[in-house]
Amino acid sequence: MKRASELAVVRWAYAKQIMAAAGIADRRVEAAFAAVPREHFLGPGPWPILRWGRGYVTTPSPDPVYLYGDVLVGIIPERKLNNGQPSLHAMLITSAAPRRGEHAVHVGAGVGYYTAILHRLVGKSGRVTAIEFDPGLAERVARNFEGHPNVEVVQGDGSRVPIDPANVVYVNAGATRLADAWLDRLCDGGRLILPLTTSQGFQGPESSVPIERRGAVFRIERHGNEFSARRISAVAIFPCEGMRDPESEAALTAAFAKGDGREVSRLYRHGDLPEERCWLRTPDWCLAYS
Ligand SMILES: C[S@@+](CC[C@H](N)C(=O)[O-])C[C@H]1O[C@@H](n2cnc3c(N)ncnc32)[C@H](O)[C@@H]1O
Repeated sequence: MKRASELAVVRWAYAKQIMAAAGIADRRVEAAFAAVPREHFLGPGPWPILRWGRGYVTTPSPDPVYLYGDVLVGIIPERKLNNGQPSLHAMLITSAAPRRGEHAVHVGAGVGYYTAILHRLVGKSGRVTAIEFDPGLAERVARNFEGHPNVEVVQGDGSRVPIDPANVVYVNAGATRLADAWLDRLCDGGRLILPLTTSQGFQGPESSVPIERRGAVFRIERHGNEFSARRISAVAIFPCEGMRDPESEAALTAAFAKGDGREVSRLYRHGDLPEERCWLRTPDWCLAYS
């Protein structure tokens, strides 16, 4: 077992490696990853690590060093519910750009590891609302943040739980549509990170559809009553409870049949746009090219 000082060095190297893997440079995000102990959130090891092609492989021992790779760790392996890939989150969180003093809402907190990264970035003067649907996990998040008055943990559906105005809404589960609250409660200049996934969007490499055509994460930024939108990544991710239905899934599948969404630049909260201006078009909202 490593001593705390040795783990601090391991975490520092890990933070550098995942930032490099994500192709990004952000000193604050890197420092947050170097500071937050992943094992504190995942509980005692050994841990099941998802190894592509081999499924979950248990770490040889409870040494936390095994958590400091760019690896997904099973939280509830039988449901394929994982603590997500650090390089993906490093990139998404960098894009969300939580600043000191801001309010970040984390939808789908799992056991709270990435909540802790957000917490570190907003600092003592900011706050985080962590929403987790699974009651057992929500309890674990609450325990993991005992003694942190600026982290509020709520068990429930993150598309329905009332939230205070937020600078960042960080959604960590795959939706087929948009919750009104995520835009209504976004402050001016606020950023929403939104994974949109088709029915194939929770498959691993076993899917015959390329990942770029199964799911994408969009960054939406509010400017008054207008919203810019940009695809920031492909994604395969656990489904979002309450935010999927056959109609919107069909619209999303049609969008992915056209392309991966990288030409999207605007979000409109109505459906009155000509088809040729839209990647995704629904009666209530659109992701459009202009
Ligand atoms: C891919 S897991 C990610 C967990 C966490 N972000 C991590 O990486 O450790 C998605 C999480 O979202 C939760 N979830 C799904 N739908 C939700 C909803 N509508 N509101 C809040 N949480 C939800 C699931 O229970 C699960 O814990």
